[in-house]
Amino acid sequence: MKNASLIIGGHGGIAQAIIQTLLNSERDKAIVVVSRGQRPANAADIDWYQSDHGEASINEITQAFQEQGLVFERVFICLGILHDDTVSPEKRLEDLNAESLLHVFNINSITPVLWLKHLLPVLKNTDPARVAVFSARVGSITDNHLGGWYGYRASKAALNMLLKSTAIEYARRAPNVKIIVFHPGTTDTELSRPFSQNVPEGKLFSPAFVATQVINILDAQTADGELSFLDWNRQPIDW
Ligand SMILES: NC(=O)c1ccc[n+]([C@@H]2O[C@H](COP(=O)([O-])OP(=O)(O)OC[C@H]3O[C@@H](n4cnc5c(N)ncnc54)[C@H](OP(=O)(O)O)[C@@H]3O)[C@@H](O)[C@H]2O)c1
Repeated sequence: MKNASLIIGGHGGIAQAIIQTLLNSERDKAIVVVSRGQRPANAADIDWYQSDHGEASINEITQAFQEQGLVFERVFICLGILHDDTVSPEKRLEDLNAESLLHVFNINSITPVLWLKHLLPVLKNTDPARVAVFSARVGSITDNHLGGWYGYRASKAALNMLLKSTAIEYARRAPNVKIIVFHPGTTDTELSRPFSQNVPEGKLFSPAFVATQVINILDAQTADGELSFLDWNRQPIDW
């Protein structure tokens, strides 16, 4: 089986750009995508798995990967929510709501680490396997000078801590795997669109630019057992 790239959350704006960049640059390598959405009409060359990202589905799909002997050299976990029909970022304490917080934590913190739980036996097969999990600079506790966005900030901080423990365990059980926590910068997708009007000129990135950055940054990583928190410019971010 050819070495493949795995993109989890394939209908997202950044994920779509990663898929397109890989399709344009690596015709000889396989691309495997997992998404809640259906395979787009122009994605005939892609191995596409539909999933609700619930644990039963994650288990079923990762078992299928093992049965097929898939070898992933890159994994991009692109899942993340800032707003949807039911939640929007909280401006003040009165906006906090347990149900909304649980919804955001489920997608931003818990689901990515459940994917890494079930991918461990699959990723053991590649040397090296490199994993980029999309977080956000606003998940940095050190960097929080403005407050607000309680659920998004806290769920990304929780994601970072879950990944820290994951990286420590992977270093022991799958030392061939390198995990990075990635901040793409403000990128022009559905996620940022309601908030991007105040972004200074030149600071709103195209998904295509971010896709190139994350692929190049990931490919330069060595499996050192450490979790790295890096931005689109390869700069480390304080936890
Ligand atoms: N855009 C930015 O400015 C920005 C800035 C900092 C960090 N980020 C982070 O970068 C990542 C990608 O964001 P994006 O800008 O590409 O966002 P997007 O276009 O809104 O994509 C959303 C992603 O989240 C998944 N998702 C959405 N709702 C979900 C749900 N209910 N259950 C499970 N998965 C769900 C989608 O996967 P499916 O394909 O399965 O639907 C998709 O991968 C996120 O982690 C985000 O927090 C983005």
